[in-house]
Amino acid sequence: MCGIVGYLGSNGAYEILIQGLKRLEYRGYDSAGVALVTCDGSLNVHKARGKVANLEQTAAAGCTEGSLGIAHTRWATHGEPNDINAHPHVSQSGEIALVHNGTIENYSVLKEALTEHGYSFKSETDTEVLVQLIDYIKHTSSCTLVEAVREALLQVEGAYAVAVVEKGDPDTLVVARKSSPLVIGVGEGETFIASDATPIIGYTDKVIYLKDNEIAVIRRNEPLSIVSIDSNAPSEIDIQKLKLSLAQLEKGGYDTFMLKEIFEQPSTLRDCLRGRITDDCSRVVLSGVELNKERFLKAERITLCIRGTSWHAALIGKRLIQDFCQIPVEVEYASEFRYGNPVLNEKDIVISISQSGETADTLAAIQLAKEKGAFVYGVCNVVGASIPRATDSGTYIHVGPEIGVASTKAFTGQVTVLTLFALAVGQLRGAIDADTVREVATALKAMPEIIEETLKCDPEVQTLSRIFTYAHNFLYLGRGYNYPTALEGALKLKEISYIHAEGYPAAEMKHGPIALIDHEMPSVIIAPSDSLYDKIISNVQQVKSRGGAVVAIVSKGNTAMNDIADFCIEIPSVPECLTPLVASIPLQLLAYYIAVGKGKDVDQPRNLAKSVTVE
Ligand code: F6R
Repeated sequence: MCGIVGYLGSNGAYEILIQGLKRLEYRGYDSAGVALVTCDGSLNVHKARGKVANLEQTAAAGCTEGSLGIAHTRWATHGEPNDINAHPHVSQSGEIALVHNGTIENYSVLKEALTEHGYSFKSETDTEVLVQLIDYIKHTSSCTLVEAVREALLQVEGAYAVAVVEKGDPDTLVVARKSSPLVIGVGEGETFIASDATPIIGYTDKVIYLKDNEIAVIRRNEPLSIVSIDSNAPSEIDIQKLKLSLAQLEKGGYDTFMLKEIFEQPSTLRDCLRGRITDDCSRVVLSGVELNKERFLKAERITLCIRGTSWHAALIGKRLIQDFCQIPVEVEYASEFRYGNPVLNEKDIVISISQSGETADTLAAIQLAKEKGAFVYGVCNVVGASIPRATDSGTYIHVGPEIGVASTKAFTGQVTVLTLFALAVGQLRGAIDADTVREVATALKAMPEIIEETLKCDPEVQTLSRIFTYAHNFLYLGRGYNYPTALEGALKLKEISYIHAEGYPAAEMKHGPIALIDHEMPSVIIAPSDSLYDKIISNVQQVKSRGGAVVAIVSKGNTAMNDIADFCIEIPSVPECLTPLVASIPLQLLAYYIAVGKGKDVDQPRNLAKSVTVE
């Protein structure tokens, strides 16, 4: 949610910042802007509403020189997306420029005080208040920029990752963070800063993950220094090696990142499973569970705490954990959990699932759960992000960078890790028999090949999608393990095609949604040959008898459904608990091709951002 990038070195900053913004654009694309300090100290700012490409056009008319600069791509929170509200914001004196990711919660109080001191504001943003506050402190206390930034941040409530530069000083870049991510890339004679590591890849593999409440001062030809915002005491500088490659950030011949990510799933699941199932498939080994056996043995309840697509993965996880571990499980939206006064103690395990590892509500829920004595387990994708650092233990899904805003490979990675987790904890607690472990682990190990097979439905789904680009509403129905799959299928369609879609437990349809069904409202019904198949057949018939078109997702070899549903898409047969993994593939493709058919920007759908770092 908003991306920031900065550069100080010997090369031209502008190109590096623009390329960096393009890699961060998944975090928001309402507007973009850049501030550059030339070697003689002049400050040039360019901003434009919309995507980075618009900024490039605007900036081309002005000066883009300088080897120090900061830039921003915005997902609007305070103030509509326009040029004035775009970052960087410049102080009233014209001397200080700042970019910000996060939310300044006490901005209105600060704004009022600054107005009394003669400051006026051009934008509606919370960020402009911060830059004016820094300006005010600097001028009234005659201190350095870094001192003014630190002093201002002490007065700020909320979340921030900020980068600040000053007119007249082409040699200093100040950055700080609290609850919003910030990575520093350490190159040879050059330093990069960004909201995540993607803009840094290709320049250096040495990175520092700035910690909460730290401020870093980057000066030309001087060693980097990091201090605590609260105490001003020096912090330890921990340089880590980045393991991402440039190829992972490119489309690799696909039209979009989303399609690449759908088709990458055989290999991402291979990475996700690597080393976690023994050769004979008799055991699942997750170090995060092994190292904390006592907590898992004494656990009396597990609460999964998440948002969005990760919530759907969690609903599947609930079923898996209940089936294999015999522990009561609850699933909570992190945004509700954090304000719901949850009753927790040291016999509770809270699992937080997050692709980005930065979702604000999920992070707040983790802190609350820890304060109440629960053991917090993370299931994350982005290595080194805030959530894996805040949890007591966890498992990475290792599916590589997910750039398409609609989550695909992260969802199947999350479901895979939750299956491994349920098997590992079930074994540990003696709640699952050896034959079930072997059966599920064997099928899970073969999942990369099974998904490869499933993806062969692509041409068929593409053809089918053309029939449905007209639809204004869709119903997705599933039962048992596949009720969450239906929710996820509906979310994918909504997000990228802007068609209204609802996911429902198939049997509940009779209690309301059936009233919506007519020949203009198609239903996608997930009907693998599992324990609930016979029940779902009657749901299909109920839709058909009311004139609704049915697309059924069925197990290979099920020819009976051809006589009832309008269209059938076959998926390979797998154990029931693994059907969501295979059934979600045609649903991802269906949403994708319908959206493409409607001419939508599937990688960057309107109003969305990939990493939701605000409440
Ligand atoms: C939907 C989607 C979002 C995220 C949600 C949580 O395709 O991507 O619903 O799942 O914003 O994000 P993470 O998993 O990063 O915490």
